[in-house]
Amino acid sequence: MTSRSPSPDTVLNAPLLVTDSLAPPRDIKAAGTTSTTFDGLLNEPLLLKEDLKNGCGGQLWPAGMVLSKYMLSTHAKDLAGKSIVELGAGGGLVGLAVARGCEIGLPLHITDQIPMFDLMKDNIALNHLDSAVVASVLDWGEPIPGHIPSKPDVILAADCVYFEPAFPLLITTLQDLLGPDSVCYFCYKRRRRADLRFMKMAKKAFDVQEVRDDPNAAEYSRESLYMYTIRMKPTKQPATTTTDHISTAKESTISLAEVKSRD
Ligand SMILES: C[S@@+](CC[C@H](N)C(=O)[O-])C[C@H]1O[C@@H](n2cnc3c(N)ncnc32)[C@H](O)[C@@H]1O
Repeated sequence: MTSRSPSPDTVLNAPLLVTDSLAPPRDIKAAGTTSTTFDGLLNEPLLLKEDLKNGCGGQLWPAGMVLSKYMLSTHAKDLAGKSIVELGAGGGLVGLAVARGCEIGLPLHITDQIPMFDLMKDNIALNHLDSAVVASVLDWGEPIPGHIPSKPDVILAADCVYFEPAFPLLITTLQDLLGPDSVCYFCYKRRRRADLRFMKMAKKAFDVQEVRDDPNAAEYSRESLYMYTIRMKPTKQPATTTTDHISTAKESTISLAEVKSRD
């Protein structure tokens, strides 16, 4: 079992790991409850208890807000009957937003390390989503617990790239979870050059495509936030299908903004 990962800010402020220009250190946020409609995308606000005492997942992170808004605006109607698992959910921001605002049929699984378990449970209860959302412990690199769908249709992951020792563990968990029909919506904030190493590893192991159907992409890429789909690499076949062309038409292999931001 791996120990708890530090927070993105801790990693950023650790002198030995700093290799890039950095955002200023953030103030430690006081515990409290945030209410959000994601810029009006939800009719009924989502309530999120935030408390950093058990780890960085105890607050809402920008990539989680971006991924939530993308799912609510673009995938509100196409998730019905799909199995959905969120990785590194923290307090459950993205999964709870999806459960509240998207049409889903099956229980959605939000997962994180043990220290986040109670916060995930509290936020499920706070939003009366007990019948729609299940909280579970899933430590990256560890076997997937039996009650979590083994090859879910949809995987959600926001702001999970910041701690290098965890990169191969996250890759392993994605390898375990991604089936031939799975898609992972993956949003991350590039804080330092090392974060690109995760994307390099991911591009080696998976089919990684930049999400191109989010009208807000230009705005958040200015803040070094990037969104991708991650799928299993296609097996070599003699000919591609029509749907392959349709699904990749909106996507390109690498973000232009990200290329420009490389040193
Ligand atoms: C920066 S927070 C993001 C939380 C949330 N997704 C959001 O966007 O607001 C990163 C989350 O990844 C989780 N995490 C880090 N390493 C992990 C690991 N090895 N296994 C499972 N979760 C991990 C942390 O506990 C934390 O909740």
